[in-house]
Amino acid sequence: MLRQALILLLLTAPAHADTRAAMRVLRDECVGCHKPGKAKGGLLLTTHEKMMKGGDNGPAVVPGKPADSPLYHLVLADADPHMPPKKQLDTAALKALEAWVKAGAPWDARVFDEPPAPRPVKLSSMPETWQPVLALALSPDGKKLAVARGGSVILVDMAAREHPVLGRLEGHTGPVQSLAWTPDGARLVTGGYRDIRLWDPAALQQTGGITTALIGMVTALAATDTHVFAADGETGGAGFLHQFDFQEKPAATWKAHDDNILALRLSAKGDRLLSGGADRMARLWDTSTRALVAFYEGHTNHVHSVAFNHDASRIATAGADREVKVWDVPTREQDASLGDKKNAYVALSWTPDGKALAAITDKGHGSVYTELKKHDGAQRSDTAKERKLESAGAPLTSVVITADAKTVIAGSFDSRLHTWDAATGKPGSGIALE
Ligand code: HEC
Repeated sequence: MLRQALILLLLTAPAHADTRAAMRVLRDECVGCHKPGKAKGGLLLTTHEKMMKGGDNGPAVVPGKPADSPLYHLVLADADPHMPPKKQLDTAALKALEAWVKAGAPWDARVFDEPPAPRPVKLSSMPETWQPVLALALSPDGKKLAVARGGSVILVDMAAREHPVLGRLEGHTGPVQSLAWTPDGARLVTGGYRDIRLWDPAALQQTGGITTALIGMVTALAATDTHVFAADGETGGAGFLHQFDFQEKPAATWKAHDDNILALRLSAKGDRLLSGGADRMARLWDTSTRALVAFYEGHTNHVHSVAFNHDASRIATAGADREVKVWDVPTREQDASLGDKKNAYVALSWTPDGKALAAITDKGHGSVYTELKKHDGAQRSDTAKERKLESAGAPLTSVVITADAKTVIAGSFDSRLHTWDAATGKPGSGIALE
């Protein structure tokens, strides 16, 4: 009886299309091979117009007619060629596509801006010997240096002459990729794979954590006293920003870059957030409305690092294109191009007074720029005074310059902290982490 009623129901139910459900199938199962630069069969499924135009064999969709639409009949079990080529979509996905084509295949581009559902992954533990220093952050008063090394965060006393280790924050199960202090110095935020932890750095204790809604590696963090901004995404996927108000769930999540976000910084006032990404862009956000205020376009490869000067009138960006660029924030014009054009720049640090900018490369050297002038078009070579830092002989990952602009400290893949005298560019003895 019940069975019959169900069958009847199924037969008489109107074709009710859930546009987003169908388009999520396209986004997650099809677009990877049908997008600009990889248009298999000549077909793009990234806009409604392209989908309707179709591929080498004509239109992919005949609105209202699933059986006549290659986009639908090629996903059926006996299709040849079969889409996706090495996989059979489940019944729910087939039904969603069928109903959607029947309903005329309406488009809803917002689907492409949704964060992808976290994929299940198996985490294997890291080899004990691989302990790269991947992130560094000086406390706002300059007295403590947080060092992310492997799965640990080590706090170093910068106020004492020998820079002793104050303690370790243990708990992350994989490498810690990102660090941020709150401006009041009361909290430290650390990021790993789908894992954000909050710590009381004075007590050396974890006070909270966030795992909800995280998609992949937390590649960058920035914090005000009330919000945490976290960069997240699948490797090679779109870059998302989350805002957490020190609660477990994000107050907001939005797509901020077309590729992974690699850097985040807040202005000293906390009203602007700057992001840099693998999509070669730097973007400026209003932290209260989360609106895009400006973007800075000019790098020809990943933007690895970003920094604000003291009053957020200028920003610096460092890229895999071997360039360090300085930009005027309101006009969005490039003031200076500082890189040596030979090495990929991986990290930047600007002193809080805006007087010295440190940049380091993946090859182990770097530069400290002072007297940064506005570029007037005529004397490109005169835009800054440069002190070159001798090579540390190890691939560097992260950098801070002390507020007095005397010392540059860089983290490295070789598990160590390298130091330089910023006045001479000579390497110092480093900071021991044991
Ligand atoms: C792994 C890559 C890959 C994925 C994923 C993929 N396709 Fe394809 N698609 C291809 C290739 C390759 C062709 C060309 C096949 C041929 O002509 O034999 C093609 C052809 C097509 C065509 C015919 C285009 C034409 O005019 O010749 C359609 C329609 C299509 N795919 C739809 C889809 C849909 C819908 C999905 C997702 C459910 C999907 N594809 C997923 C690789 C892929």
